[in-house]
Amino acid sequence: MDMVKRPRRLRGGETLRRMVRETRMDKASLVYPMFVVEGKGIRHEIPSMPGQYHYSLDMLPAALEEAADAGVSSIMLFGIPDKKDELGSGAYDRDGIIQRALRTGKDTVPELYYITDVCMCEYTSHGHCGALCGHDVDNDATLPLLAKTALSHVQAGADMVAPSDMMDGRVGAIRETLDKNGYVNTPIMSYAVKYASAFYGPFREAADSAPSFGDRKTYQMDFHNVKEGIKEALLDVEEGADLVMVKPALSYMDVIRRVSETVHVPVAAYSVSGEYAMIKAAALKGWIKEEAIVCESAASIYRAGADILITYYAKELARYMDEGR
Ligand code: PBG
Ligand code: ZN
Repeated sequence: MDMVKRPRRLRGGETLRRMVRETRMDKASLVYPMFVVEGKGIRHEIPSMPGQYHYSLDMLPAALEEAADAGVSSIMLFGIPDKKDELGSGAYDRDGIIQRALRTGKDTVPELYYITDVCMCEYTSHGHCGALCGHDVDNDATLPLLAKTALSHVQAGADMVAPSDMMDGRVGAIRETLDKNGYVNTPIMSYAVKYASAFYGPFREAADSAPSFGDRKTYQMDFHNVKEGIKEALLDVEEGADLVMVKPALSYMDVIRRVSETVHVPVAAYSVSGEYAMIKAAALKGWIKEEAIVCESAASIYRAGADILITYYAKELARYMDEGR
């Protein structure tokens, strides 16, 4: 038998397999999302996201330290305010929950890189991602609110802002406001390709940000579409986005691939709360091997073309990546 080509030859041992590996994962590309709340002494586990917590500001430094010690270099902050109103004024309050969290974080754990989610839904009484006009979100009236919010985050110490609202033109509005105020070097990571997804369910419970009526389908994308995602990503880059994000991740691998091949900026993928909850729940039941599934899922997202992975498993993955898993 003269079979000269034998793919198995390159699978003969761990050293060789790692030598010829096509997708290499580096913990420097991980971003860990964290939730901050008002109050004192709070470190409450989020019921639908076991292993993830709400932290009050006094408990935040220890949690940040823990992330840094685990090898995570970047975090994404979400704030849950005590008071909400029609225009989400807590989002751009100088002493809002995120603004104070940033100052606390920068003071106590300055070695971390701080990214903030810029949106209104945690702060509005109706839970939508912007100002309302009747029963829909008023796109253009929302832009200045988002720009103010982003600016207040940067003034409080954010290293990068990530608008997640899906209003048209918001990247341009934020860029203009940051530039006018001298923050020309603060990058914007746009949630450019963000689908209206049931995978955000646990997050909305965690962030108390579910819309009080209707849904987000007039601003977030229809999950049947991919060309539209390319359009969104290209538009955001034109408006000044330095990085773009695809969200969710696991059910949108084709989108990650297409976006990463079309748009020439770094692409982040957000493995969202529902993805985390599904793996966690099955793992807690003893039905899957959590560590193996987490590594395999992460590798598949990078293989699809992601440069950055935003994940609730960031602390664990930092270690697995170092171990070459
Ligand atoms: C705010 C926002 C959401 C998520 C990130 N930023 C929720 C939403 O759009 O309803 C989802 C994150 C997750 O599910 O882990 N707009
Ligand atoms: Zn929102």
